Amino acid sequence: MSVDTRFDPMTEAVPSGVTIVVCSSCRDASGSDARPRAGEHLADSACAAAGGSDIAVRRIECLGNCKRRLSAALLRDGCWSYVFGDLAADSGGDLVAGARLFSTSTDGLLPWRGRPDSLKRGLVARLPPLALIKD
Ligand code: FES
Repeated sequence: MSVDTRFDPMTEAVPSGVTIVVCSSCRDASGSDARPRAGEHLADSACAAAGGSDIAVRRIECLGNCKRRLSAALLRDGCWSYVFGDLAADSGGDLVAGARLFSTSTDGLLPWRGRPDSLKRGLVARLPPLALIKD
């Protein structure tokens, strides 16, 4: 049996393993093409909220959820993945709160209790981890 010596749970914070993926190309309610787009502001907001933590924030152009406006996803290896829409440009704190909550999950699901309202109302889809649906 091998032991991972890169991480000492007695002296270090437990890595969250959660990545926030923000669509940086989402437009605001006006539909304007002006840059920076509202999605960029949301990504900036998430980066600021996650600053100094081990929660990763990544930007991507289009999560295929354009009709639900500002969109983001929470990913955690081996866990369910969650896509959200109808977010606001300043919802970064909610995404980070959701990521922190997700990091505490022991069943691979993002807990409902304690989830920010924007991540309840804005839920678009959840996708199972591949291992759960393999034959
Ligand atoms: S442009 Fe943001 S989801 Fe498509």
